[in-house]
Amino acid sequence: MCEDLLVCLFGYGSILWRPGFPYVRKFNAYIKGYKRMFYQGSTDHRGTPEAPGRVVTLIQKPKDYIEDDWITWGTVYCIPDEEAEIILKNLDYREKGGYERIETDVYVNGKDTPHGKALLYLASNDNNEYLGADTIDNIALQIFKSVGPSGRNLDYLLKLAASLRKMEVVDDHVFDLESKVLELMKLHNISHSHEGHVAS
Ligand code: BEZ
Repeated sequence: MCEDLLVCLFGYGSILWRPGFPYVRKFNAYIKGYKRMFYQGSTDHRGTPEAPGRVVTLIQKPKDYIEDDWITWGTVYCIPDEEAEIILKNLDYREKGGYERIETDVYVNGKDTPHGKALLYLASNDNNEYLGADTIDNIALQIFKSVGPSGRNLDYLLKLAASLRKMEVVDDHVFDLESKVLELMKLHNISHSHEGHVAS
């Protein structure tokens, strides 16, 4: 895992394309029992209080489900211990819209036992900004229309899909939404962003 004196942080959302903090090394890994979904409302980054956008959170596998395909791929970042406090404080502020920090087991490919533990940010369904499930068309439309202080919600989705593709990760929920939003962009003649720097 991360060596002694390093703190491990598992990123599965905007951290993948904009960590915004120094790290010693990173590697791809997955967590079990969770799915990445566009279920969290965003009023401070990719939407506004009047018209919230949607960003990803992790939903936990219900206790009575037996499927074992509830896994989420992401990237573990190894952060120097002495910088961890300030980095996590900054991330706590950046992700203050409903997210809390938890620790969970992470796995690497081909191994059944946990590789180690990592911190991650999760917005559970009891926070004020949680939106939860909707049809794929409604979620795509909301992402297509929403804009916030950090930019267009659709750029967040396209960046996430591109990051996952680069990692060779398949995520049907993200890729289905990407297809729907690309269709809407084509229909409305909306172009891809050329923003070099994308905020969360
Ligand atoms: C992430 O990339 O892991 C992440 C970023 C913001 C909120 C939640 C998760």
